[in-house]
Amino acid sequence: MIIAVDGPAASGKGTLAQGLARHYGLPHLDTGLLYRAVGLKVRDAVDTSAFEASAIAAARSLDAAHLTDLEQLTSADASILASKVAVIAEVRTALRQFQRDFAAQPGGAVIDGRDIGTVVCPEADVKLFIEADSKARMERRARQFEQKGQVVDRYALYHQIEERDARDRANPHGGFYPAPDAHLLDTTRLDIEAALRAAVAIVDGAMTLKSKP
Ligand code: DC
Repeated sequence: MIIAVDGPAASGKGTLAQGLARHYGLPHLDTGLLYRAVGLKVRDAVDTSAFEASAIAAARSLDAAHLTDLEQLTSADASILASKVAVIAEVRTALRQFQRDFAAQPGGAVIDGRDIGTVVCPEADVKLFIEADSKARMERRARQFEQKGQVVDRYALYHQIEERDARDRANPHGGFYPAPDAHLLDTTRLDIEAALRAAVAIVDGAMTLKSKP
């Protein structure tokens, strides 16, 4: 079974995808980490004419070993760099095969990102599109940073999230919209347990329907 979980930054899609993976005993891939790893590899070229070519080369040579330093990969810097490399079509193409190979494992997988249901795995058995309003998403991200001991400027973080959303949604190569057969789940007023219960109910319902002749 392949479960695609898409949604904007800090919508809770990663936590939900992890929970679904645990619940169904499937491997999980957070595809944002791939874009973050590419972004970090080319951070020194960010304002130069070599940025695009460097990002493409970095995406083509990416492997699982680049996805281990979660401290760095989940930093605010990495998220901004990620959204900058994610607008480059060749970067997306290079990262697509890595994601498809992960999904093709025997037994399936849970994959989260922006374009999993639309581009990476349009054949996924179940597609979830997670939503939450910007303020709720900012608050969640702020708490994550505070748990790591960081001081958070909520005003700046809110604008950073809005700016990143705008760049992701305007990305002509992004595929960042709910697939026609995606199930929408708004987590604005749900805690993680309630959101996971709702997601499991959607997946179970979709799989039951699929199993009927
Ligand atoms: O989900 P995230 O915040 O870790 O994603 C970081 C950036 O990577 C985000 O701004 C958009 C990009 N991204 C993407 O374009 N496609 C994906 N499947 C995953 C992430």
